[in-house]
Amino acid sequence: MTDLAIPQGPTERAAALDDFATYLNPQKVRVMRTAGLDLVEGDRSGAWVWDVDGRKFLDCFTSAGSFNVGRRHPKVVAAAKEALDHLDHGNFLLCSAQKARLAERLAELAPGNLQCTTFGTGGGEAVDFALKLARGATGRPKIVSTTNGYHGHTGFALSAAGREAFREPFEPLLAEFAFVPFGDADALAAAVDERTSAVILEPIQGEGGVVVPPDGYLTAARAVCDATGAKLVFDEIQTGFGRTGRWFASQHEGVVPDVMTVAKSLGGSLAAISATIYTEELREFLIPHPFIHLSTFGGSDLACAIALATIEVIEEEGLVANSAAMGGRLHAGLAELAATHPGMISETRGRGLMAGLKFRDDSHGPRMSYQLSQRGVLAIYSGNEPSVMRLMPSLVVGPEEIDLLLEALDGALAAVESGSGPADTESTRARRRPVRE
Ligand SMILES: Cc1ncc(COP(=O)(O)O)c(C=O)c1O
Repeated sequence: MTDLAIPQGPTERAAALDDFATYLNPQKVRVMRTAGLDLVEGDRSGAWVWDVDGRKFLDCFTSAGSFNVGRRHPKVVAAAKEALDHLDHGNFLLCSAQKARLAERLAELAPGNLQCTTFGTGGGEAVDFALKLARGATGRPKIVSTTNGYHGHTGFALSAAGREAFREPFEPLLAEFAFVPFGDADALAAAVDERTSAVILEPIQGEGGVVVPPDGYLTAARAVCDATGAKLVFDEIQTGFGRTGRWFASQHEGVVPDVMTVAKSLGGSLAAISATIYTEELREFLIPHPFIHLSTFGGSDLACAIALATIEVIEEEGLVANSAAMGGRLHAGLAELAATHPGMISETRGRGLMAGLKFRDDSHGPRMSYQLSQRGVLAIYSGNEPSVMRLMPSLVVGPEEIDLLLEALDGALAAVESGSGPADTESTRARRRPVRE
């Protein structure tokens, strides 16, 4: 196994952390140190990342599911290099061949009649546009979202965030956002009415702690939207592009939304790109307003070229099927760990390579991150639910990586059980703090 000892004395890592604390965010450095996550990324390749001191980690965080094709996949890097010889961002006001080609590919991949795309740079921007579109097209004010849901930190997306701690310092946010418990079809039906423009939810909550809703929940959401004329928005920013063992998580239940947002893995670990994908019916709203939502860098020509290569890799390498297969191996192993560590684990969750381990105590999240980092695994507890450890490796992993992860988990669980780890006080302080920047 790689020597994980931290070198003594001034290192590149220490210098980067000092500068980060001085010029960006000192408290983030403290929290990350507490959880053993104060590593500074150096080389990265496939399912792996090395820190600047040369320690090797299996990346099971993947920027919350952003590296489905692995990090710096050779074919995506080659496409990016090739694109750099010919392209740049492009003039956003002009029509672009790269944007058109990628939008066509997304229409081919997206479920049902989702045929039209507007590009952005990040997930929050994609959600903002989804909700603007629903409000604009229906002329209705109300938006229904879910408790513990996560949609980003931009205007509409933050207003839809199901965690008060994120919203409260910035209030008043946008008006007429209502929240219902995730997975509760009756609560959803009671909240949605003729004034509702959109229901937005993640088909599996990510930051909320890898929460898979009960069977039939997405179908019930579709039905209540059909009955009231509200638009159904599925945020597949974390669940999309094979993460859950299907191209998109909504396909497990065969439910087609009116709008789907994607981002993260679309950029192949190299580009910032997001897309809001919607029906032709919703596009009618844009006919009289073709310039009503603009983004200088959204769907830049370079990013589109990288995204096209990323999609090709997912297809060519059968990564959706691999996610289902390796997910099966991972979930079987997690079930065994739950049986051998009943005092630590209360539940295992997820689909495909989107897995969650729910601990009996909130403080186990940071402790497990610390212990796993000592065993060569990078894994971070959920932003809105620190008692859940998210395990989301790249979809390029094979059985060896899954087994290595399970072995590291077993050791880390035993270590936390026996009480070893970072100081209690520090862990406790880190407990309720999100680890996102
Ligand atoms: C489900 C979901 N929606 C939206 C976002 C926001 O994306 P971004 O950070 O690119 O704005 C995230 C990010 O984690 C997410 O998981």
